[in-house]
Amino acid sequence: MGNVFVLDHPLIQHKLTHIRDVNTGTKEFRQLVDEVAGLMAFEITRDLPLEEIQVKTPVAEATLKVIAGKKLGLVPILRAGLGMVDGIIKMIPAAKIGHVGLYRDPETLKPVEYYVKLPTDVEERDFIVIDPMLATGGSASAAITSIKNRGAKNIKLMCLVAAPEGVEVLQKDHPDVDIYLAALDEKLDDHGYIVPGLGDAGDRLFGTK
Ligand code: PRP
Ligand code: URA
Repeated sequence: MGNVFVLDHPLIQHKLTHIRDVNTGTKEFRQLVDEVAGLMAFEITRDLPLEEIQVKTPVAEATLKVIAGKKLGLVPILRAGLGMVDGIIKMIPAAKIGHVGLYRDPETLKPVEYYVKLPTDVEERDFIVIDPMLATGGSASAAITSIKNRGAKNIKLMCLVAAPEGVEVLQKDHPDVDIYLAALDEKLDDHGYIVPGLGDAGDRLFGTK
C-alpha cells in the first residue's frame, strides 16, 4: 500500500490557508502555490542518495556529501500541475520535465487524456507526478498509468489538497506510489469538488474564471 505523507509544516499550512481563501487573487494564488511546491520538494527529496566527494575549503581538505546524480523527472498534469513546476525546479534544477495533458469531463468526472510527452530515458528516471488537486483520483491515476505504460517504474505523487476518496483510488490502482500532500481534506461535494478545498485550481492559477 502506498504511504500517504501529509507535510503539515507551519509554513506550508500558513500559505495553504491563504491559497484556499476565496479572496486571494490570481497573482498571489500563483505565488503561494509556487512557494508551497518548493517547500514540499524539500521533503519529497529527503530520500535522495548522497555520495562523498573531496572538497578543498578555504581552511582544509574535507570529504563531503553531494547528491549522487540520481535521474529525476517531474510530470505536471496539465494544466494546473504547471503551477507547481517552478517551485520544485528551483530545488532540483537538473530534473527533466514531462507533461501529461488530462482534463476531467465535467459530466462524467472521468479523465480525458489529450497529450503525453516524457523524457526519452523514462525507464532510468524516478518520477514525481504533480497536480494541486487529488479529487476523485481519476486524473492522477490515469496519468500514472500512462507513464508506467511508457516504462516508468519509480513514481511519487505530490498534490496540495486531496480528498479521502482520491487517496483510496490511488492506493487501490497504484499501491506502489507514495503520496505527498499539504492537506487531506474532508470529502468531495456532489460536483466532485474537494471540501473545503480551494475551488478550481486551474482556473484560479490562470485566471480563467
Ligand atoms: C483538475 C485538477 C486535477 C483534477 C482532479 O484538473 O488539476 O487534474 O481536476 O480531479 P480528479 O481527481 O477528480 O480527476 P481539471 O480537469 O479541472 O483540468 P485543468 O487542470 O486543465 O483545469
Ligand atoms: N479539480 C479542482 O481544480 N478542484 C477540485 O476541488 C476538484 C477537482
